[in-house]
Amino acid sequence: MKNVIIYASMTGHSKKIAQAISEKLGIEAFNIKDNPKIEGYDMGIFVSGIYSGECKPELIEFAKKLTPANIKSALLVTSSMKEMTPEKLKEALIANQIEVMKDEYTCKGGFLVMGISHPNKQEIDEAVDFVRNHLYQTV
Ligand SMILES: Cc1cc2nc3c(=O)[nH]c(=O)nc-3n(C[C@H](O)[C@H](O)[C@H](O)COP(=O)(O)O)c2cc1C
Repeated sequence: MKNVIIYASMTGHSKKIAQAISEKLGIEAFNIKDNPKIEGYDMGIFVSGIYSGECKPELIEFAKKLTPANIKSALLVTSSMKEMTPEKLKEALIANQIEVMKDEYTCKGGFLVMGISHPNKQEIDEAVDFVRNHLYQTV
């Protein structure tokens, strides 16, 4: 399977998570800021922070332009204080016939004094394990 990581981060947590997945699993990671060219991948691993309940608008707009020629399926990994599904991202992908995996992972991420120590090393490792386990199961 040909996999790719696409991440969007405001305060750096999702970037750290994306880089850990990239390094440990050998999957190339792209920052949405760089408007990456994504072509011919099986699985897109989306890693994003949650802001007012959703991902960054750039990531949602990017997803609206994707088709199965870009990525066939998507795995969602979020970073937020509370566990929540990034509905707009998910809807954009599904609307474009990209299969969104039922399993999602939320890596706890603090903001200012709330949960300042998160994500910690263990939480980042768990995010990597989630992706690893998922890729193993679907191979
Ligand atoms: C402007 C802003 C809005 C946020 N809104 C939410 C929210 O609605 N729900 C939540 O659980 N966390 C919220 N958070 C916390 C972030 O999701 C959390 O800090 C996450 O780890 C940020 O990821 P990043 O460092 O990749 O940007 C918010 C953080 C910021 C900066």
